[in-house]
Order: sequence, then structure tokens, then C-alpha cells
Amino acid sequence: MDELHQLKIGFIGAGNMAFGIAQGILKSDEVVPSNVIVSAPSKNNFPRFQVMGVAVTHSNEEVVQRSRLVFLAVKPHFVSTVLNSVSKHVTPQHILVSMAAGITLETLEQLLPGGLCVMRMMPNLPCMLQEGAMLLACGAGASQETGALLKNLLSPCGLVEVGPEAWIDAHTGLSGSGVAFVYVFAEALADGAVKMGMPCALAQRIAAQTILGAGLLLRDAGKHPAQLRAEVCTPGGTTAYGLHALEKGGLRAATVDAVEAATERARELGRK
Ligand SMILES: NC(=O)c1ccc[n+]([C@@H]2O[C@H](COP(=O)([O-])OP(=O)(O)OC[C@H]3O[C@@H](n4cnc5c(N)ncnc54)[C@H](OP(=O)(O)O)[C@@H]3O)[C@@H](O)[C@H]2O)c1
Repeated sequence: MDELHQLKIGFIGAGNMAFGIAQGILKSDEVVPSNVIVSAPSKNNFPRFQVMGVAVTHSNEEVVQRSRLVFLAVKPHFVSTVLNSVSKHVTPQHILVSMAAGITLETLEQLLPGGLCVMRMMPNLPCMLQEGAMLLACGAGASQETGALLKNLLSPCGLVEVGPEAWIDAHTGLSGSGVAFVYVFAEALADGAVKMGMPCALAQRIAAQTILGAGLLLRDAGKHPAQLRAEVCTPGGTTAYGLHALEKGGLRAATVDAVEAATERARELGRK
């Protein structure tokens, strides 16, 4: 806890992901707002950080000089320009964590002086509400202790897992893109109720709450999804009839295909 209390944290990029992560880590009260600094070219995103007591600057160099842990939170196509401009200020004491989709540890390490502590993290949109699912991968210069420190720091932002970089693309398919797959399912659930005569806005509210409640049960009950499904399934009842319709429609195979397609696309983008 003391380590987090003293940790100087910087964000290069002040967009939605930086904001969601900053908001999450500050909620824990272990990180001191005045130890956090964020940079961006424009002032557009500064007010929401200033409200939290976070320092703001237009200088990426200042972020690196004032921080030990630096999150790289710019769009992937800005990564090389940003790292080229700050690399002379990066020291062996720094921990650099990139959240840029598709930018590999190898690329990051090539853009920085050798032997540095570099990590990748892949967040997803619910990090904005501290209900994210994040996967961390450590570069060659990052120790297990650093991975543990990051896991501890980020845990108020949602689920944090540490794994090999090879899993990052699968995580992108499962969780980054998976958020959109769930939205399609939510839309379809509500459409079904509208077809059966329910007003659209009400159907959407109930679909959202159904997905939220089912997700919480799945996360917290410690049971396999098949077991939870079986518990809702009375023999000869409504759910059994509905599930048969879903299987006939190929929902399960289509979902596996969707995760596979998104993972393959993430791999392809990482090679470009
Ligand atoms: N959003 C997601 O669901 C998601 C999921 C996984 C990974 N990611 C990754 O997270 C990263 C950030 O995404 P985001 O959604 O937060 O993007 P965003 O909302 O568009 O924010 C990008 C930020 O970068 C700033 N910026 C642009 N050029 C810069 C430069 N040269 N130096 C410093 N800052 C600069 C922008 O400045 P201004 O404020 O002046 O515009 C903005 O604050 C991306 O690499 C993305 O791949 C995002």
C-alpha cells in the first residue's frame, strides 16, 4: 500500500481509457491525486482530470520526468512519434505500460533504450466504469514483482489478469470486441420483446438489467455457465423452448466464430 501511496504515475494521452483508468486507481484512495500527471496536445480533456486533482500538461517529456510509472494511452498510430520524442528521458527506474492495440512488446522495446521495463495492457470499454477486464503482459525487462504491482494498482478498474503476450489478441477478441457482441445480443433480446408487444424503451432497459444481473451471477456464483443455465431450465418450461430456438439459430457456433475472427484481425493488425 505504501508503495502505491508514493508511486508517481503519468498518462501520455488524456482520452477515454486514460480517464477510466485514472478514475479507477484514484477511487482506491491508495494513490495520491497530486502524484498523477496527464498530457495531451489540446486542453479538451483536461477538466475531467483537474476535477480529480490530477496535474495536466501539454509536455509528454514532463510526464516521463515526473513519473515512475507511465501509461501510454495514445492511439496506436501516435506511439512511435511519442516514444521517439520521450525515449531520451526514460531511465531503468521507469515502468512503461502501453495500452495501444496491436503494438507489440517487441516494437515498444525497439523504440526505447535497451533493457527497460515495458509492459502491455489490454483494457476494454467498461474500464470507464471500473468494471473492465484487463490482461497484462510483461516484456523481458519487467519482473514478476512489477506485474504484481500493476495488478494491485489496476484492480479497482475491474478484473486484472497477467498472462503471456500471445493471449492479448485472444483477449481483444473475447473482451475488447466481446463488449460489442454482448450489445448485439442485448439488442436482439429487446427486439424479441418488442415483437411480442413490449414498448421498445422498456424492453431495452429490461434487456440491459438482464445482462447485468446474469453477468454478476456468473462472476460471483463461482459456477460454470452451463450449470447456471441448467438451473434456469425447468423441464418442459419456457427457457428450454427458447434455448432450443437459440441452438437451431447457431448462436453458440456464431459466437465462437466471432471471437476467432476478431482475434485473427487483432493478430493481422499487429503485423502491419
Ligand atoms: N477505447 C477502448 O475501448 C480501448 C480498448 C483497448 C485499448 N484501447 C487503446 O487505448 C488507447 C487510447 O484509446 P482511447 O479510446 O482513450 O483514445 P482517445 O479517447 O481518442 O484518446 C487519445 C488521447 O491521446 C491524445 N494524444 C493524441 N496525440 C498525442 C500526442 N502526440 N501526445 C500525447 N497525447 C496525444 C489525445 O489528445 P487530445 O485530448 O488533445 O485529443 C487524447 O487525449 C489506444 O491506443 C487504444 O488502442 C482502447
